[in-house]
Amino acid sequence: MGIFSLVTGLPGPSGFGSSSTAEQVTGGVDASNLTVIITGGASGIGAETARVFALRGAHVIIAARNMEAATDAKQLILKTTPSARVDLLELDLSSLKSVRAFSDKFLSMDLPLNILINNAGVMFCPHQLSEDGTEMQFATNHIGHFQLTNLLLEKMKSTARKTGIEGRIVNLSSVAHIYTYEDGIRFSELNEKYGYSGKKAYGQSKLANILHANELSRRLQEEGANVTVNSVHPGLIMTNLMRHTFFLMRMLKIVTYILWKNVQQGAATTCYAALHPSVKGVTGKYFVDCNEAKPSSLARDETLARRLWDFSEKLVKAKTCDRW
Ligand SMILES: NC(=O)c1ccc[n+]([C@@H]2O[C@H](COP(=O)([O-])OP(=O)(O)OC[C@H]3O[C@@H](n4cnc5c(N)ncnc54)[C@H](OP(=O)(O)O)[C@@H]3O)[C@@H](O)[C@H]2O)c1
Repeated sequence: MGIFSLVTGLPGPSGFGSSSTAEQVTGGVDASNLTVIITGGASGIGAETARVFALRGAHVIIAARNMEAATDAKQLILKTTPSARVDLLELDLSSLKSVRAFSDKFLSMDLPLNILINNAGVMFCPHQLSEDGTEMQFATNHIGHFQLTNLLLEKMKSTARKTGIEGRIVNLSSVAHIYTYEDGIRFSELNEKYGYSGKKAYGQSKLANILHANELSRRLQEEGANVTVNSVHPGLIMTNLMRHTFFLMRMLKIVTYILWKNVQQGAATTCYAALHPSVKGVTGKYFVDCNEAKPSSLARDETLARRLWDFSEKLVKAKTCDRW
C-alpha cells in the first residue's frame, strides 16, 4: 500500500483500501457481545468509531474530557441507532489522577472489556507541561494511554478468558511517527523547552504509540494472553486535531486534497483492526488504509520499545508516588 493505492483508493490484500469506510469494513460483523472503550470518542475519528461500533451492536464507553461534546456524540448515535448502548465517562489523559479515577469508575461498573481503542490525541501544541509535569503531547498521547491500558489490562485478560473471545487493543498512531527527534524519544530531555519542536514532539508521541503497542504485544504473547495489540495510521482527515495549525492545514489541504480522507474513511483502519475477523491473532502490527504496513526502523526497534516501556513505568510510578 503506497501513495498510488492511497490516491486511487484501490483495495490492498485485505480487500479494503484508503476509500473504504468504517461501515464497509465492519459490514456483517455482529459486535453485540462486545464492550469497547474509545478514548476521545466525543469527536473526529473517535466519534465515528463509536458510532460504527454502536451500529454493530457493541456496548460503547466514550471516554472524554469534554462531557458536553460526549453527550452530543451520544445523541447523534442514538438518532440513527435508537437501540445503541452508549455510556459516557470522564477522562483527562494528561492527568494520571484522572486516568486512575476513570479506570476505578469503569472497573466498579463490573462490565466486561473486549476492546480498548487508544484514540484520543493532541497535535503540534506549543511547549506545555501536564499537571504531572510531563511534556503535554507525550503525556496525553502516550503516558495517559500507557497507564490506562495497564490499569485495564487484567479486566481485558479476564474477559478474554471467561468469554473465549480475543481481546483487542488498538493504538492510534500516525505516519508522523517518522518525523521525530534524532534518537526517536528524547528520554533525558523530554520536558525541556530548549530544543522543543511541536511537530517533532507529536512525531515522538506517535512513535511511542507504536513502540508501546509492539512491546505490550510481545509481553502478552509471552504470557499466552488472548489479547492482541496493534497500531494504526488513520490517514489525513480534517478534524479538531488541527486546532494549533488550522490555517496551515487548510492551505496544505488545498494543494494535497487527493491525499485526504473524510472521517468515515478515517475511522476505517481502527474499526478494521478492532473488529474484522481476518485480523484474529494478528498482533504487534501497524496498519495503514486497512492493510498491514511497515513503520519506520525506529518503530521496529525492539530495544527502544523495551526502553520506552521501562521509562514510562518509572515515570508513572514517580509521578503517582509524588502526588498521592
Ligand atoms: N486527523 C488526522 O489527520 C490524523 C492523522 C494521523 C493520526 N491521527 C490520530 O487520530 C487520533 C484521533 O484524532 P482526530 O483527528 O479524531 O482528532 P480530534 O477530532 O481532535 O479528536 C481527538 C480527541 O481526543 C480528545 N483529547 C485530547 N486531549 C485529551 C485529553 N487530555 N484527555 C482526553 N481526551 C483528549 C479530544 O477531546 P477535546 O475535544 O476535549 O480536545 C478529542 O475528542 C489522534 O490520536 C491523532 O493523533 C489523526
